[in-house]
Amino acid sequence: MSLDSLLREFDALEEYLKIKPLYFNLDDRTFTWLDTRLLPFEEVYHTTRDYRRVAEAIREMEIRGAPAIGVSAAFAMALAAVHSSASRAEDLLGELEEAKRVLASTRPTAFNLFWALDRVMSRARSVEPDPDAIRQAVLEEAFRIYIEDIRGNVEMGRIGSKLIDDGDTVLTHCNTGALATAGFGTALGVIRYAWYEGKRIRVVTTETRPVLQGARLNVWELKKEGIPFKLIVDGAAGLVFRRGMADKAIVGADRVILTGHTANKIGTYTVALAAWHNGKPFYVAMPTSTIHPTRDPDSIVIEERSPDEVRRVMGKYPITLDDVEVYNPSFDITPPELITAFITERGIVEKPFEANLKSILGLT
Ligand code: MRU
Repeated sequence: MSLDSLLREFDALEEYLKIKPLYFNLDDRTFTWLDTRLLPFEEVYHTTRDYRRVAEAIREMEIRGAPAIGVSAAFAMALAAVHSSASRAEDLLGELEEAKRVLASTRPTAFNLFWALDRVMSRARSVEPDPDAIRQAVLEEAFRIYIEDIRGNVEMGRIGSKLIDDGDTVLTHCNTGALATAGFGTALGVIRYAWYEGKRIRVVTTETRPVLQGARLNVWELKKEGIPFKLIVDGAAGLVFRRGMADKAIVGADRVILTGHTANKIGTYTVALAAWHNGKPFYVAMPTSTIHPTRDPDSIVIEERSPDEVRRVMGKYPITLDDVEVYNPSFDITPPELITAFITERGIVEKPFEANLKSILGLT
């Protein structure tokens, strides 16, 4: 599909894009993103031509959420390609390998990052060894990944909305909305779609310590949509299920492996336990680009972030002593037995997960 037809598809999806967190401008060949660290207080966009600046934005969580990280890394590769002065294909491919290495070192858990980088790089190597052909191929592949993400999210929303009944209260954890993707969202996209269908739903969002993706980003997105919600501290999820104040949980994922083990924001496992103990369904919504086709849960690298994220709120306001020893894993792993089903853009995946995840990926 050419860049022109990709852009026409983008125009057709625009009605779903009230929030555009990421954007590549073809006129001046720059990449722009909404800085999620400053929300909900300030709406600040940054623009760059430098792929290293995109790497920094991912590392510092100006851009976050597994699909948004993957899409931004793909556009960062496009920046590296179109702004390179290399006149020989092998030099350009060498520069792209270096950009890939820098981008891959930003955050270790989100599978979409590695999936997107591999996809762009293999596209670059698949065309004729001519620098202009490689530049064009990388740019097109980045746009393809971007538009597929938006299209997939809308489809995931349509499919997942069937699991939400009129009158439901849905508990969610971390931000999985437009801000975590190229647009529309995964778990929050499913909620958003159900709302667009006219279902009278309510949301309970955790605040999501320590970076507060729930308190800052879900609140911002839910308010924009007018979806009624309550904010709770992470530790209240058990009581909320116990008291029947939520009917089901829908969360996102950073990495799902074939066994169904799911890495997602720290605290997800606790939410799953609370849902399971109270007989409530627990769903994971993710694009198929989040599925790592391996069976080994030990292969999932759990990112550990700075102790200051825990010692200080948003890196500023101290809530404990500066020298307190901290353990700050950014993700946990929910075992498959606690998961009711996965929601993907290709359909709902029920148990047995391994056979059904393989089948949805086209693996035999
Ligand atoms: O550390 P973050 O904010 O990048 O973590 C994000 C999550 O854990 C999301 O739930 C996950 O990436 C899915 S986003 C659609």
